[in-house]
Amino acid sequence: MTQTALIVGASRGLGLGLVAEFLSRGWTVIATVRDASGEAALRALAGSGRLTVRHADVTSDADIDRLVSEVPEPLDLLFINAGIMGPPDMLSASVEEIDRVMRTNAFGPARLAWALMDKLREQTGVLALMSTGMASIADNTSGGYDIYRASKAAQNMLARSLWIGSARARGVTVLSVNPGWVRTDMGGPGGTIDVETSCRGMANQLAANAGAHEHRFIGWNGRELPW
Ligand SMILES: NC(=O)c1ccc[n+]([C@@H]2O[C@H](COP(=O)([O-])OP(=O)(O)OC[C@H]3O[C@@H](n4cnc5c(N)ncnc54)[C@H](OP(=O)(O)O)[C@@H]3O)[C@@H](O)[C@H]2O)c1
Repeated sequence: MTQTALIVGASRGLGLGLVAEFLSRGWTVIATVRDASGEAALRALAGSGRLTVRHADVTSDADIDRLVSEVPEPLDLLFINAGIMGPPDMLSASVEEIDRVMRTNAFGPARLAWALMDKLREQTGVLALMSTGMASIADNTSGGYDIYRASKAAQNMLARSLWIGSARARGVTVLSVNPGWVRTDMGGPGGTIDVETSCRGMANQLAANAGAHEHRFIGWNGRELPW
């Protein structure tokens, strides 16, 4: 039986890498981009005969409603990858900049996940949200990038509420995933791993955790992170 994944925020970086990884594993993949300029790299992937591209901005309620109406069911995996770093300094950032990071990284993904929950396959479906090691309060020993950290910590909290309020009853596993420090536009050239390594590792962890019936905070390498 072919498995189906919806990967949200797939124009480049880790989202594009996840699409490539799941296509290489024989999955049917629905990938979202924000506009047509994000489609070319996806269309060039091997296995793109099993790929459908949709448009969605996670901060738009209209886009969320349209995506929900377009996506078939059941989904074996919903991976919400979309995210932005935002300004490094909280004190000099504008309210609008802070709001954009919170809506893109936390509330948009959570609202989309709630809207799509009924499409996830019961008992074995997985909802993954792209978190980060920087979301861990226990691991925050350096500070910095506080808007980003706070937005992803909020995402982790919203994911827990989503698991309690919706996913658990369906048997859907919820994973808050740390991809590692990856060489992408966001991660920069100093990242310790490449996109392929991170995405292969994350896909292995998603497979290993399907059916776990929990909400876990895990890394691409299987390491469990402290909240
Ligand atoms: N790279 C790292 O080291 C690292 C580490 C920890 C966590 N992460 C997380 O991993 C995810 C992907 O990061 P990346 O390194 O691949 O970053 P990236 O190369 O900057 O890619 C970000 C992706 O998110 C999409 N996106 C941004 N805002 C969106 C919105 N409002 N609606 C829908 N899509 C949106 C972008 O689409 P456009 O092309 O349209 O802008 C792009 O596809 C993020 O959530 C990030 O926080 C990355």
